[in-house]
Amino acid sequence: MVTNDKDPHAKERDAFSGVETTGHEWDGIKELNNPAPRWWLWVFFVCCVWAAGYWVFYPAWPTLSGNTKGSKNWTSHTELAASQAEITARRGEFAAQIQGKTVEEIKNSPELYQFALAGGKTMFKENCAACHGTGAAGGNGYPNLNDDDWLWGGKLEDIYTTIKFGARSTHEQTRTSQMPAFGKEAMLKPAEIAQVADYVLSLSSKAELAADNKGAEIFKTNCAACHGADGKGGREFGAPNLADAIWLYGGSKAEIIAQMNNPRHGVMPAWEARLPDDTIKQLAVYVHSLGGGE
Ligand code: HEC
Ligand code: HEC
Repeated sequence: MVTNDKDPHAKERDAFSGVETTGHEWDGIKELNNPAPRWWLWVFFVCCVWAAGYWVFYPAWPTLSGNTKGSKNWTSHTELAASQAEITARRGEFAAQIQGKTVEEIKNSPELYQFALAGGKTMFKENCAACHGTGAAGGNGYPNLNDDDWLWGGKLEDIYTTIKFGARSTHEQTRTSQMPAFGKEAMLKPAEIAQVADYVLSLSSKAELAADNKGAEIFKTNCAACHGADGKGGREFGAPNLADAIWLYGGSKAEIIAQMNNPRHGVMPAWEARLPDDTIKQLAVYVHSLGGGE
């Protein structure tokens, strides 16, 4: 370390590099008073100029009544509003086209079809997933919309009608039917109910029936009108196919007996009053695309 004896105010110089120090010292380590590199200074000056320009053009400084507005009058609110207006306008154009078309026509127009699929998917998550599940796989009492087992029909037009008017909903055009409470209203005796339950099970499982089982007969008189002579379901009544492995309320003997004693009469709400028609069409197209559409 070299000290300058002649000038008491002169800063210390570092012996190794010969550079003046700032006088700051930490545990024997001293800070050299090197000038900032030139490139760094230039970047700094450019930033200052840029900042000054920014204050002129854009909102910057807080004031008592809000903030400086800047000469461009830019705000993030107007920018958001403009981009949203653009989206709405673009959506509106498609929505208007969908409005005037049948679901079948939408399906046949590649552009509208893509739009409807995307829109339907979003609207499904918002309105339908609570009951049918996000992936539309359903659950106990809520039909799976991905399979080709339909209560009320899997054609685009059928699906559209179901969504619009619902099933056993409060809409006057609702799809409706009531499976009778055979047990509760003593239309069938418990022994008959047990026999017909075995018969129903045999439709899907090929299980052997007891020789004295009268299930087939009981089924023919009491059930076939809705579920079909072969038990494969009846869509005018929303009566499920009983001859497959897909069950709405469960396929054990106890569950089948429970349905005969106390039918559930599942309710699907009508959406006509809650969603615009173009949205219902988009939903129908989306549900139809899920794999089970006919
Ligand atoms: C409150 C619960 C609930 C909500 C919400 C709901 N559903 Fe349903 N949905 C049901 C039930 C229950 C059924 C079965 C009705 C029956 O047993 O006939 C059903 C049936 C259906 C069917 C007929 C299935 C078939 O096999 O024929 C379609 C299609 C359908 N829903 C679509 C939708 C769409 C699309 C939405 C959203 C806009 C929606 N659902 C919202 C409860 C609901
Ligand atoms: C008036 C029409 C009608 C008649 C008659 C009828 N059902 Fe049903 N059945 C339905 C409907 C509709 C459903 C759908 C569930 C619901 O909403 O209650 C159903 C559902 C069922 C289910 C549940 C299926 C599943 O997937 O979980 C079983 C089991 C069943 N019926 C058996 C019978 C038997 C057995 C008889 C005769 C003793 C019978 N039904 C008579 C209309 C009928």
